[in-house]
Amino acid sequence: MSRHTICKTSEVEVGLIKPVTIGRSPIILARLPSGEIRAVGGYCPHQAADLKYGCISGVTNGDTPNELTFDHAGEVLRCPWHGFEYSLVSGDPLVPAPANTKGCLRFYEVAIEGDNVIVIM
Ligand code: FES
Repeated sequence: MSRHTICKTSEVEVGLIKPVTIGRSPIILARLPSGEIRAVGGYCPHQAADLKYGCISGVTNGDTPNELTFDHAGEVLRCPWHGFEYSLVSGDPLVPAPANTKGCLRFYEVAIEGDNVIVIM
C-alpha cells in the first residue's frame, strides 16, 4: 500500500467530479454532502467508460404519479456511456448490474491530513 497526496480538501466539492491520475490509474474524487471524500476507480464497472465524463446527481423516487421526490443529492455517480448509476456511499449500482459485470464501484481508502487529501492504494 502506498500513500499519495493528491490535492487540498477545498479542491473537492460536493456534486463535482475531480479526476486525478495516480501512476497509470485514473481516479475520481468526490465529496459527499456529509463532507466525506471518496476516491473511486475511474472506469465504470459495466464496460469501462471513463467516469470523469459522468456526473454526480441524486435519484428521483415515487410510487404515486405526480408525487416524486429527489433523494440522495450528491451521492450518485452516473456513467456517461449507458447511464448506470452508482451510490457514492456504498459503491453499489442503484439497479442490479448485469450478470457478467463487476457491478460495484471500486473504492480506495482516503485519509485527510491537515488540508491534504491522501489516497492509499
Ligand atoms: S460503461 Fe458505464 S454504464 Fe456502461
